[in-house]
Amino acid sequence: ARSRHQSIALEVQEGSRHFFPGRESITLGYNGSYLGPTLRVHQGDDSEVTITNTLGEDTTVHWHGLLVSGNLDGGPHQTIPAGATWRPVLPIRQRACTLWYHSHAHGRTARQVYAGLAGMLIVSDDHEKSLGLPSDYGVDDIPLILQDKQFEQGTLVLPQGMMTTMHGRRGDTLLVNGTVNPVAKVPPRLVRLRMVNGANARFFDLAFSDARIFHWIASEGGLLEKPVALRSLRLVPGERAEILVDFSNGRPATLTTGPDSSLSMMRMMTPMSGASETTVIEFIPQGTGSSSLQVPQRLHAPEPRIPSTALRRRRFELTMGMEMGMGMGNMRRDETRMSRASFGINDRAFSMDRVDERVNLGDSEIWEVTGTMMAHPFHVHGVHFQVISRNGSAPQTRDKGMKDTVLVREPVELLVHFNQPSQGAPFMYHCHILEHEDNGMMGQFTVT
Ligand code: C2O
Ligand code: CU
Ligand code: CU
Repeated sequence: ARSRHQSIALEVQEGSRHFFPGRESITLGYNGSYLGPTLRVHQGDDSEVTITNTLGEDTTVHWHGLLVSGNLDGGPHQTIPAGATWRPVLPIRQRACTLWYHSHAHGRTARQVYAGLAGMLIVSDDHEKSLGLPSDYGVDDIPLILQDKQFEQGTLVLPQGMMTTMHGRRGDTLLVNGTVNPVAKVPPRLVRLRMVNGANARFFDLAFSDARIFHWIASEGGLLEKPVALRSLRLVPGERAEILVDFSNGRPATLTTGPDSSLSMMRMMTPMSGASETTVIEFIPQGTGSSSLQVPQRLHAPEPRIPSTALRRRRFELTMGMEMGMGMGNMRRDETRMSRASFGINDRAFSMDRVDERVNLGDSEIWEVTGTMMAHPFHVHGVHFQVISRNGSAPQTRDKGMKDTVLVREPVELLVHFNQPSQGAPFMYHCHILEHEDNGMMGQFTVT
């Protein structure tokens, strides 16, 4: 394996962008007005990132899914004050995977990510290169950051209020890579899509409008053992998936999403729009040139399974305020009561000054996670994990692979491996509905 030193420069900026022609929106971005460049690193690299914060407020840059020590993680303890520069050197020691980076500033994450502070981070390795997967970036290896936003007269607005806090910030307009009504030209062959759910709260239930089969090849932690043929795939906030789609018949295809399923438990108080399927992005195959690329039969060696019986267990309940649960039927009418809503994990709201859990470096543990009120995407920093049960039974297809973010609707058991030391800066675990996170549905742990 090669090792090389690499330098990346990111400037956190305020900008303006025309999502709709002639309509200006104030946004945030890295090296540009909205989102950031795709960062590409290789296993073995030492990547020095220079991040300059030109905003008038604190920010951080968190490497979501990157296995680095706590002091490099970019969580709420690695604040980059207004005008300051942070220069971590990131040792890239994990296998090929699709990651992302985003703001994690304490109490400001939801607003900063919504305004644009997110980007993709791709790790490659020699094994993956040997498989012959589509890997021509932007041609047949295409990054897709999926988001929803709210616009008024074509200008980006920031939804506010109690319902926004409860449900997470949502919008009626879908964006891919910051573009409204996106269309991608693709070669008429096998194409790899790297998808990130970069929305604050929305779940995506993705499928092609012609119901074509595609091959799911990688979860958050990298390649699966073998491809899984699917017709639809759910992506919750923070999750990634890589899929292979065959465009060799030359026919255009529309990737759609169903109605937002995260709200199902709250549907009684949420007026749902009637739409059943919404277009996410259209693909138009163009050009000629066949290719011998095929879906490989095997992708990666199986991950070792550690016997789960003797491991330490910890339990986490993602909690939303008691008043809420009892007053569900009245919620819309009773704003005062709702203003007492509270978020926490095991009934405690996040505190920067409290370490909730202490883990031994090198251990594996079983984390049992349950939710309340609605479905929550649960994310842990500095680790990858396997889902070992869902609702007391075997995990579902989409629970396969190494993960760092998982849908918690039913209780799940996670087998978590702790290989990164916190190095004086605790790691986070939290709900990836960013409004829940900012309001306290987060905890922190040390690994020593
Ligand atoms: Cu993607 Cu703690 O975040
Ligand atoms: Cu993270
Ligand atoms: Cu949540």
